[in-house]
Amino acid sequence: MKSRLTRRNFLKTGFLLAAAVLFKGTINFLTGSTQGDITRQDFFEKEKLFSGANIILGRQGLVWLVKDEKGFYALDRRCSHLGCLVQWDEEQKRFICPCHHSKYGPDGRVLAGPASHPMVPVKLRADRKGNLIADTTTVVSKEQRFNFN
Ligand code: FES
Repeated sequence: MKSRLTRRNFLKTGFLLAAAVLFKGTINFLTGSTQGDITRQDFFEKEKLFSGANIILGRQGLVWLVKDEKGFYALDRRCSHLGCLVQWDEEQKRFICPCHHSKYGPDGRVLAGPASHPMVPVKLRADRKGNLIADTTTVVSKEQRFNFN
């Protein structure tokens, strides 16, 4: 049987492809799923957790891990103003946004605007090897700490 590409078949195929792309995009939007799920997590090697540094940037550069007397907590690195990635300033002991110079304390509270909201604390969990994984899709209370028990 000989197949022939008619205008009608061409339009029908194009319509089905567009519908499939739209459907997949809608499903991803509704479920919050993206191909980059793994990039929503950050990773902290076990060896670095007890190296003496109290503030560590994750391997992906998405999350700051902070250690205080109560345990570990993770702060989403995105500035609450417009989302630039904040840097830790060891001399000033604060996070500073390179875009509009908002400043945050080590606990993520705003020290200087224009940001008006604190940095967002996110969920921490340990893997089987004792590395820590921060999940930026799950917000936790600012008092929550992770401890190895
Ligand atoms: S994006 Fe950080 S201060 Fe504007």
